[in-house]
Amino acid sequence: MEIIKMTKEHYSDVYELWLSCKGMGLNNLDDSEQGINRFLERNPDTCFAAFEDNKVVGVIMAGSDGRRGYIYHTAVNPQYRKRGIATALVDAAMDAMKNIGINKVALVVFRHNESGNEFWEKLGFTERHDLVYRNKAINEMIRNDT
Ligand SMILES: CC(C)(COP(=O)(O)OP(=O)(O)OC[C@H]1O[C@@H](n2cnc3c(N)ncnc32)[C@H](O)[C@@H]1OP(=O)(O)O)[C@@H](O)C(=O)NCCC(=O)NCCS
Repeated sequence: MEIIKMTKEHYSDVYELWLSCKGMGLNNLDDSEQGINRFLERNPDTCFAAFEDNKVVGVIMAGSDGRRGYIYHTAVNPQYRKRGIATALVDAAMDAMKNIGINKVALVVFRHNESGNEFWEKLGFTERHDLVYRNKAINEMIRNDT
């Protein structure tokens, strides 16, 4: 297994991988080819893909606004799970965040995604009980949750 930086060329393979994974929160704007390319342009050194058998088997999108780091869409092909691939992707993203001077990294997971939450807990991403997650849409998006 090899971990490399994710680039625009990986988009179609990565999107197919996301569609094959339960628990992903996808939408038609941010996860379109244009949306992902925009994210990669802003965060060229912190997104990674895992390759094995000449194909993409895992992905992590990490980015920062200069203060916090945020992780999105961590996924591993179901046939390649429980072998440490996601852990290696998180390690790569956290090292990359550290290299650009970020002190803390956050992420959101659907509450009903029990295995996803167990994974993040195991890796030391603790749940905050003192915060309320709030947001407001600027553009209407169509959700395509897997
Ligand atoms: C969550 C996910 C990324 C884990 O990928 P993975 O490569 O299998 O993870 P790892 O092998 O690195 O697992 C590391 C640890 O996480 C925990 N873990 C992983 N998968 C788990 C599961 N299905 N249930 C409970 N704990 C799990 C285990 O403690 C594991 O350590 P162990 O193997 O020593 O027991 C993968 O299952 C996935 O793609 N799920 C669908 C998408 C998703 O839910 N993403 C996360 C939310 S955004």
